[in-house]
Parts: sequence; C-alpha cells; structure tokens
Amino acid sequence: MSEYLATARACANVAVAKYWGKRDTALNLPFFDSVSFSVSGLETETTAYWEDDDGAGDFLEIDGRVIPSSMMGRMRRILDVIRSEKGWSKRCVLKSSNNFPHSTGLASSASGFAAAALASSRASGLMYTERELSRLARLGSGSACRSVPGGWVRWYAGESLDGSDSYAQSIAPLEHWPLHVFVVQISDEPKVVSSTEAMARCQESAYWPIYLERARKAADIASSAIIRRDFSLLREAMHSNAFELHALAMTCQPSICYFAPKSIELIQHLLRSCRSLNVCFTMDAGANVVILSDDIACPFIKNDIIGLGVRYIQTRIGGSAVFVA
Ligand code: PMV
Repeated sequence: MSEYLATARACANVAVAKYWGKRDTALNLPFFDSVSFSVSGLETETTAYWEDDDGAGDFLEIDGRVIPSSMMGRMRRILDVIRSEKGWSKRCVLKSSNNFPHSTGLASSASGFAAAALASSRASGLMYTERELSRLARLGSGSACRSVPGGWVRWYAGESLDGSDSYAQSIAPLEHWPLHVFVVQISDEPKVVSSTEAMARCQESAYWPIYLERARKAADIASSAIIRRDFSLLREAMHSNAFELHALAMTCQPSICYFAPKSIELIQHLLRSCRSLNVCFTMDAGANVVILSDDIACPFIKNDIIGLGVRYIQTRIGGSAVFVA
C-alpha cells in the first residue's frame, strides 16, 4: 500500500474577478479569465493511495464522512485521467480533512480538488507540472485550478475544446501585496443553490449577454490593479464584479439570492468604511463575505465585523498547493 501513498495540502481561493458560467460543463471550461487570491489557513489536507480494485471502486472520505459513490463523479474525472495515463485499473482511496466548514461558500471544493489532484497523482508516481496539475484539478471544480498556484492567481479560460489551454498561473507572489483577509462566516447553512446549477440558470437570464460582455474585461482590470498594487482600482473591479454576479443571479428563473440579512448589514458598514479606508469585499455563491484590507484599515474592519456578532477568520494571502509526504 505505502508504495502508492501521498499527502498534499491546498488553500482555498477567493476570486476578485469571478468565474461564472461554463462553455463546457463536463470539462469545467469558462467563457472568460478569472483572478483570485489564495487564502492562507483555509486548507484541505488529503491523503491518497492506490491499490488493486477488488470491485469496491474508488473511496472518498471528507472530514470523517464517507461520500457515496453516486456523488463521486467529479472526483472520478480526476482519478480516471491518472488511471488512463498509468494504464491502471487500480482504485484510489482518498481521505480528506478541511479546517473550515464545507458547502458554506468558503470554497472547500477548490482546495479539496486541488489537494486531491496533487495527492492522487503523486501517489501514482506521476510528477505533473503546476500547469498540468491545475488542469487536472479543474476537472473536479473549475475554481480548483486556481488553488494549485499560490499568491495572486489568474485562470486563463483558453479557447481549445479539450481544455488544454485552460489553467491557472500565479501573476504575483503572496509577498507582492500582503493584504489582510477576513472571511466572515455569516451562515453555516449549505448554499441555497450549487454554483453549477446557478451558472446554468444564469446563462438563461436575459441579462447574461450584458454580464458576459463586462465579465470578459474584469480579469484584465483586476490583474492590473494587483500588479500595480492600486487599491482603488482593485475595489472598483471587485465590487462591480461581485454585485453584477449577484444581480444576475437574482434575474434567473427561479431567482437566486445568496444574500442573508447580515451579509447586507455588513456590506453597508463596509461601504461606509470604504470612503476613507483601503477596504474591499466580495461574495461567492453563498452568504459569506470576504474582505481585503491594508494594515491601517484592519482594526476598523474588525470593529465592523464584531458589531455584527458573527464568526470570522482573519488571515493573509496564501501559498500554493504543496506535497506533504
Ligand atoms: O468552482 P465552482 O464550480 O465551485 O464555482 C465557483 C464559483 C464562484 O466561487 C462563485 C466564483 C469563483 O470564481 O470562485
């Protein structure tokens, strides 16, 4: 068993210019580039090993809970690539643990699939490059490709039908702009609608073409804000991109609203703080709010959050997925 064993760790990531919508559902191919940062301390650690299959098939356990085989389709896409490259019919056993709750909009699927792609490929003896790993993780969930590189990351949407040019790469290391990150856990309920389902519904909205036109430009704007460390530009890019996504979601049939009352309350505080401080925020497909701030704004932001009586994690920009052992 130990011959084919490996452990890897990956951080969650949060997009400042978001991936939303799939040009290919099976391969998780996006319509446009997205940009994110890795979140230090929000991690998944996964141990994988390969063994002869006695007919039981692949096995996945997350935080001590066994995932039914019928819900392992996305993980199997990753494992099938490795099996076919190795010419194997072995099964993979994966045990994964998150140090944060999953399905609460904290993007555990991204760190989960990135850690699983690294652990399962290394355990098989394959030494993929970062680009290859990013493509492999993307098969699990799109945003997982951005949890492979570290720091500030851009996912190139690519154009090819097979996804060979759709992968993520770091555009700046974490030291380039070491901002504070606050992950505010407004709700620990699972998200109301999965992102895959929500994207499909959004692509049917009458507002999709307008959204698409603007979202296609968002990654360039966010990237140049990051490269230049221009906080005002980052805020403008981040806020308009997040609000446009949530506005679009509300125009779906049936309509999707990820905001909880406390998300709105916090956003109103933050919008006031933004007038005089370097602070900006975003929301993914869930009620939680993720905030970026500089050193000066940090204590003020903490007050905004504490006043709401919600849980939060204060952290920094994180690194890349790593092979542990
Ligand atoms: O990778 P998925 O299928 O979980 O989709 C992620 C979608 C968002 O988190 C809302 C946006 C993003 O770019 O991370």
